[in-house]
Amino acid sequence: MMLAGYAVGAAKGFIYIRGEYALSIERLEKAITQARLYGLLGENILESGFSFDLAVMKGAGAYVCGEETALIESLEGKRGHPRNKPPYPVTEGLWGKPTVVNNVETLANVPEIIRNGAAWYRGYGTDKCPGTKVYTIIGNVATPGLIEAEMGTTLRDIIYEYAGGIKEGKKFKGALVGGAAGAFMGPEMLDAKMDFVNLKEYAAVLGSGAILVMDESTDIVGMLQSVLHFFKHESCGHCVPCRLGTKQLVEIVDRIAGGKGKVEDIESLVKISEVMRDTSFCPLGQSLNLPISSSLKYFRDEVYGRVQQPA
Ligand SMILES: Cc1cc2nc3c(=O)[nH]c(=O)nc-3n(C[C@H](O)[C@H](O)[C@H](O)COP(=O)(O)O)c2cc1C
Ligand code: SF4
Repeated sequence: MMLAGYAVGAAKGFIYIRGEYALSIERLEKAITQARLYGLLGENILESGFSFDLAVMKGAGAYVCGEETALIESLEGKRGHPRNKPPYPVTEGLWGKPTVVNNVETLANVPEIIRNGAAWYRGYGTDKCPGTKVYTIIGNVATPGLIEAEMGTTLRDIIYEYAGGIKEGKKFKGALVGGAAGAFMGPEMLDAKMDFVNLKEYAAVLGSGAILVMDESTDIVGMLQSVLHFFKHESCGHCVPCRLGTKQLVEIVDRIAGGKGKVEDIESLVKISEVMRDTSFCPLGQSLNLPISSSLKYFRDEVYGRVQQPA
């Protein structure tokens, strides 16, 4: 962040982190205090003429506050509603000033690139997508956790080489890749190379790098139900398509999970999420079509098998 501040001429950086992550907050605050003591933060750092300081800001736990403009609103002490774009934060961000918003992983790559050079970094990953990616692997794997792998590593290697394979020797059923609003992938995607460019071709996303792995016993409708309930809870209510759409999606998926759904209900899930994709104000509402359409792409028979068949 200091390097980013130096590059853009900023004197102040904020680390926005959910208030629930007490241990991470404690560690960050300790590291910042230590850096100040060493003279690496604050006024005239190491007598370079460059001044920069950091503050940790605790969020109240709303998912939408990860959206850059909602994050800025929240930093300003307001409710975390996304702003209209343009103007983009780079021209009008925090308190109306030009602001750079970056992911921690992006910033963490910078010192190594400066230290070792761009060619070194490009030596990892693929031509179109150099470098590495940090993944959070959770679900039915033997060793869940955080890993860093080269861009272009296959989903199979991530699961079987890095995460110890499927727990209790069960079979792989699928994975939800890219976070809660990511895409489901079936076994036919195990050899897909994981990087931002390649996944786009499969209508999938790498997103935050979260991979939720499901074994053969996982109920896809149940998974979809959890995802949609999460988004109904996290919809900030600012725009109509997402405020009402998430509520309707939950009613429909609950009906299907309860064995009372009809074929038309599946069609409605798709249609509503398409309208949300095209008309919602921010990516939270826009992205729900992805888990819905991908669940049907890879697990169509299972989802259709859960609704009452026409007589
Ligand atoms: C609903 C929503 C939630 C998000 N949550 C996060 C988050 O928790 N952490 C994060 O780094 N970025 C999150 N993002 C992405 C950020 O808004 C931003 O685009 C990103 O951090 C930019 O950094 P990068 O260009 O370095 O990747 C979220 C975006 C949306 C739309
Ligand atoms: S899409 Fe959802 S989260 Fe985004 S502004 Fe609209 S209601 Fe809020």
